[in-house]
Amino acid sequence: MQLTNDIRYIGVNDHEIDMFEGQYDVPNGMAYNSYVILDEKIAVLDTVDARFGKEWLDNLKKALNGKSPDYLIVQHMEPDHSSNITTFKNEYPNAKVVASDKAFAMMKQFFDVDYIDNRLVVKEGDTLSLGKHNLTFFSAPMVHWPEVIVTYDSYDKVLFSADAFGKFGALDIEDEEGWACEARRYYFGIVGKYGMQASNLLKKISNLEINTICPLHGPVLSENLSYYIDLYKIWTSYGVESEGIVIAYTSVYGNTKKAVMLLKEELEKAGCPKVAVTDLARDDMHEAVEDAFRYGTLVLATTTYNNDIFPFMREFLYELLERGYKNRKIAIIENGTWAPNARKRILAILEEAKGLEILENGVTIRSAMTEENKKEIELLAKELCK
Ligand code: FEO
Repeated sequence: MQLTNDIRYIGVNDHEIDMFEGQYDVPNGMAYNSYVILDEKIAVLDTVDARFGKEWLDNLKKALNGKSPDYLIVQHMEPDHSSNITTFKNEYPNAKVVASDKAFAMMKQFFDVDYIDNRLVVKEGDTLSLGKHNLTFFSAPMVHWPEVIVTYDSYDKVLFSADAFGKFGALDIEDEEGWACEARRYYFGIVGKYGMQASNLLKKISNLEINTICPLHGPVLSENLSYYIDLYKIWTSYGVESEGIVIAYTSVYGNTKKAVMLLKEELEKAGCPKVAVTDLARDDMHEAVEDAFRYGTLVLATTTYNNDIFPFMREFLYELLERGYKNRKIAIIENGTWAPNARKRILAILEEAKGLEILENGVTIRSAMTEENKKEIELLAKELCK
């Protein structure tokens, strides 16, 4: 695929994968992106997952049309991008490997190679001229690993953004939900903990004139770039993206679920713009995480279980904390037949999160909702919709 006169896409689509990084459901597969810049000197940016070495090399050869590459730029060492470095070097032994010093250390750890005699170690602000195309490297530590660099081509005004601006999903399947849905789940799942570092990267690139963003996953972005960059500004600063309320619940015999459905009904009656409900035991956990960061209010509804909270709720709360969950409004509905303790446990777990406003008015159900509980839920809905 030709992106500009000189830049080609040579990535691959993965429809075999069940879970990305061993935990993220990817019903539309995954793309591992890789690019070639054809100039007086030729540079390849990143490789692909181990299982696609032959397909990628074929794509590369087609793009090279008999020429040989001069550089392999390794922006990120996570194996979904680095696993074919040795495949590349076996094919093109004279090409120089370009990466950060941390990336070379990881290369040694992963593949027992560091190409000490044929490499270029780059750091923040270093440049590499290919002819017309002048590349500048920026470090992007923790977006999403410490060794990451991104690359700016000032000739075509292209930012090769590594994992930033990535998205779940293969590129040969049309994503009817649009870019943001799976890009948000990807961002909060994978990079979410490092909002500050991702925000620093946005600051670094803010003065560059960018026409195209080439990430390592998901589509190449070339129109209306402010849409993507503005969403990234919200996500990396833990801001509220959309008006609405998420209700995340667990229910053992359906009684907590009944309370959740009543709350949803009351919220909608009260005119709440959007109510997203997620069953933490059955729905995708990372959709729930994504929604918790997307909206400003989160209702947690769960049962007391072994004098603690139900395991899926506990997992959810730690998923949020791990990613720096903050600055949100929280309400709690607890259920407990003989010794309700869920609210207390949730409060203890959330203690380390910053800037949470936890509503005093919660609801305590003892087995099944009473008429009094129903009134409390009605009041809660009104308070949340204020
Ligand atoms: Fe797609 Fe952090 O690797």
